[in-house]
Amino acid sequence: MMKHLLKLQDLTPDELTGILNLADQLKYEKKHNIAHEHLKGQTLGMIFTKSSTRTRVSFEVGMYQLGGSALFLSDKDIQLGRGEPIKDTARVLSRMLDGIMIRTFAQQDVEDLATYGSIPIINGLTDYCHPCQVLADLMTIREYKQSLKGLKFTFIGDGNNMANSIIAGGILSGMKVAIGCPDNHRPDEKLCEWAYKSGDLTITSDIMSAAEGADVIYTDVWASMGQEGEAEQRRKDFAGYQVNDKLMSVTNNAMVLHCLPAHRGEEITDEVFEAHANEIFDEAENRLHAEKAVMVKLMKKGK
Ligand code: CP
Ligand code: NVA
Repeated sequence: MMKHLLKLQDLTPDELTGILNLADQLKYEKKHNIAHEHLKGQTLGMIFTKSSTRTRVSFEVGMYQLGGSALFLSDKDIQLGRGEPIKDTARVLSRMLDGIMIRTFAQQDVEDLATYGSIPIINGLTDYCHPCQVLADLMTIREYKQSLKGLKFTFIGDGNNMANSIIAGGILSGMKVAIGCPDNHRPDEKLCEWAYKSGDLTITSDIMSAAEGADVIYTDVWASMGQEGEAEQRRKDFAGYQVNDKLMSVTNNAMVLHCLPAHRGEEITDEVFEAHANEIFDEAENRLHAEKAVMVKLMKKGK
């Protein structure tokens, strides 16, 4: 039984499918103006130590649509930013809130919130992973391709938080996952060992072979939040690791996804981005539905 969403590999395949099915249902209900106040009277705290557009808006709007409310807690304003320990913050907030979504740097801080707190904790992105994004991504792929099992899911670029969550979510869904990344920017080694044992994972620096026959192509920025100082070096490291027409030509007529924000001309050309804009913005919208599903699964009383 899910208590938190800290990283996708904590879920069973059935739990993951359950979230996607509920997300589809909530999306259908929203489109047909069927309101269900599953979280009436509840409050979600949203701790941010990094910037956000999609994550902040989708969680805040999601809570509102579910009958609850959300509090934006920037580390610039709360005592956490002045050094109050995570374990004290967890114990205080657990007595006032019904759940916490946190976006921060260290995965350990998210795990510590769950250890010391007594309410559901949701990972809204760390340097290690971005589980909420990949739930929305898998939901979007199902919408376009009907099912996930057996599809080739290729990520091109940095072996970063997105790559890690794509490996975890893709493998749990029975997809063939391929990561095309430079040798010095590979995804988390321990996660890859788990993925090699559990399913079909390929990691290669040859992006054309990673993309060959792919059903889904995914990419993300070369310099993530917190790596702004390395941007120039990274531009050199990732030169050529781009989703462009040549790369698309070897795929199986793949759909293209991007977690956003995108840097056109770096990890993706404007042409490919705009040709796949419907998929990419459906994906962005699905953050709302997928996160509502996560919150209902974790926070609904008497479930
Ligand atoms: N994709 C994503 O998480 O976007 P934000 O950084 O805007 O939340
Ligand atoms: N890898 C990016 C993802 C943003 C949603 C970052 O961490 O900045």
